[in-house]
Amino acid sequence: MSFDDIIDRHGSHCVKWDMMDKLYGVPKDTGLAMWVADMDFRPPQCVLDAVQAQVNHGVFGYFGDDSAYRAAICWWMETRHGWTVAPEAIFSPHGLVNGTALCIDTYTQPGDGIVLMTPVYHAFARVIHAAKRDLIECEMPLVDGRYEMDFDTWDTQIPDNARMLILCSPHNPGGRVWTRAELEGVAAFAKRHDLILVSDEIHHDLVMPGHTHIPMTHISGIEDRLIMMTAATKTFNIAGSHVGNVIIPDPDLRAQFAARMAALGLSPNSFGLFMATAAYSSEGAAWADELVQYLDTNRQIFDAGVNAIPGLRSIALEATYLSWVDFSGTGMTREEFTRRVEQDACIAANHGPTFGKGGDSFLRFNIATPRARIEEAVERLTKAFGDLQ
Ligand SMILES: Cc1ncc(COP(=O)(O)O)c(C=O)c1O
Repeated sequence: MSFDDIIDRHGSHCVKWDMMDKLYGVPKDTGLAMWVADMDFRPPQCVLDAVQAQVNHGVFGYFGDDSAYRAAICWWMETRHGWTVAPEAIFSPHGLVNGTALCIDTYTQPGDGIVLMTPVYHAFARVIHAAKRDLIECEMPLVDGRYEMDFDTWDTQIPDNARMLILCSPHNPGGRVWTRAELEGVAAFAKRHDLILVSDEIHHDLVMPGHTHIPMTHISGIEDRLIMMTAATKTFNIAGSHVGNVIIPDPDLRAQFAARMAALGLSPNSFGLFMATAAYSSEGAAWADELVQYLDTNRQIFDAGVNAIPGLRSIALEATYLSWVDFSGTGMTREEFTRRVEQDACIAANHGPTFGKGGDSFLRFNIATPRARIEEAVERLTKAFGDLQ
């Protein structure tokens, strides 16, 4: 398969293309779906073969033996991230939004505070509110087009009820790959305020050339407060299979999490496990390497096109395929630049305010799509904001 192949997803019940009319008012027939974070690519052949093998077998009973799945995760984390994972430290919730919700449920109480560094992935705040916890937003300063951490300011903003910090590493949106010094700062911050640290590293395989992701487990002194979260779903575009890895190094925290999963009667869907097991392999690794190269070129084309439009500025991605574009330089209201993107350019992109403080003047564009669509998007945006030239 080539990443250039256009696969028509209309009518496949996918949220990205089949819901954009309803959610953004962007028509199905002419619209470009550049919002929710899944890719318009098929997963590697080994994943399709694994599903086909199950279909050929034809019996879809309860799943039992997950030893191959755990071994595949351990292999991937070791070979790709230099991280040794104990098989018994792995839990398999229904994806990482579910993993986040389970962490909140297990380690905090209603009324406790949960800290986010914003702007950040919107589902965190949604789950925090739904669980009746207090959302504590620490806004990241944007310095020369790059998000930074500001612990001195944040130290003054953490209330006594704060119990947990959810870190997004690499960061969505804004695409930062946090440096060792920044991660050490996060660890010290979590310790100073006695916070459980949930490190969502779902984008850890989607790191652009020239940058290196450091797993939070590589930072010392926080093992007794650290929950790691990764998933094959983002890397291999199998998000509909709804399985994620929650990896808990500390035995006490692990026992608490296991008890909560048992109390809720949670066990994973077999198809997610078959797909992830197949993906975490040398064939999957070769595919992921090619994918990142492709995304990097998409990123360069999109950035060059968008940054040539006066008033628009896209942040240079160090990771992820989610381009974060600032429209503040247009001088337009949020309603006006959003109207132009949705109604004139016919592009569905995520709205900045849903990502929390600091997101107001932004839209987030998903560039994990065949290159022809990136070129088309640039053309449409250039035309929609043509009067600024
Ligand atoms: C940081 C982050 N965490 C979690 C998710 C979603 O995870 P899942 O599909 O496993 O629930 C996303 C999806 O974009 C994400 O960006």
